[in-house]
Amino acid sequence: ESLFVGVDLGGTAIKVGLCNATGDLLRTYEGPTQAVDGADAVLTNIAAYVKELVPPGTPEWDAVEGVGIGIAGFLNIPEGIIDFSPNLPFKNVPVKQIMEEKIGKPVKINNDANVAALGEAWGGAGKNVQHCVCYTLGTGVGGGIILHNRLIEGSTGMAGELGHMSIVADLEAIQCGCGKMGCLETVSSATGIIRMAKDAVARGDRTSLSFVEGELTAKDVFDAAKGGDEVAQRIVSRAAFYLGKSMAAVAVVVNPQRFIIGGGVSKAGDFLFAQIREVFHKLTPDNAQAGVEIVSAELGNNAGVVGAAGLFLRA
Ligand code: BGC
Ligand code: NA
Ligand code: ZN
Repeated sequence: ESLFVGVDLGGTAIKVGLCNATGDLLRTYEGPTQAVDGADAVLTNIAAYVKELVPPGTPEWDAVEGVGIGIAGFLNIPEGIIDFSPNLPFKNVPVKQIMEEKIGKPVKINNDANVAALGEAWGGAGKNVQHCVCYTLGTGVGGGIILHNRLIEGSTGMAGELGHMSIVADLEAIQCGCGKMGCLETVSSATGIIRMAKDAVARGDRTSLSFVEGELTAKDVFDAAKGGDEVAQRIVSRAAFYLGKSMAAVAVVVNPQRFIIGGGVSKAGDFLFAQIREVFHKLTPDNAQAGVEIVSAELGNNAGVVGAAGLFLRA
């Protein structure tokens, strides 16, 4: 039987998974990214974790037909190169070629949010629709656009980089990790939410967030907002407003049936979703919002590895 490996390369952890030819996830293995050690160390880690997952020399290893890797960052997908990553130490790295040498199997790379979208489309919240757009809300904001059941990559692979939609145009707009001003990621990622919370505390705003012990998390901000803290509520509504506004823009560009939201921040649940829906409904022409649903991702942390393995399976 043919087997496929999927790799989800994130800023803090690398998850690898083994899939069979029907796309079932057989098992996973996870280890640290060690991004501070540079691109070389990260790629060496990927190869090591893949070989932990499926030991070379076994019949299973021989059955592996390819390794798909989902990577957070701006890729040149046809060339197999990471050009730049706002949250990983990669600049102009020919990942496909290096990983094929390290692993000795065919490798395909794609964007992390794109492969998560593929995973959701095949076996998750996008299973019964042909046109969906996924957002992943974590360290960054990722996007994946699927139309007519096909992933839209654009000319080089930048299609669906929704986190870098320049959308914040008020006086509080800040520079993004990509170098540009006002990206969605600066307000709607976990990092952005935490930054706004720290700013409020530093300014001396009256908020329970000043009394959180240890490092502030996005969950602290949501918990405070749910508990009635007005400063936290303003931060959450800013994150939700720009998400809803970006969906209004996407809706008139590609007219999807469904928006699927995943990533750690999506665990805030209906408290966040209700606000996003309200903004989306207020800003989107009726014909572009009719029947459009905004729902939570279903595959959780495994969407990335399943989708990455699927780069071979469904090709
Ligand atoms: C990167 C995307 C990635 C997203 C989520 C963004 O900063 O530009 O490529 O999909 O973070 O990881
Ligand atoms: Na993407
Ligand atoms: Zn940006």
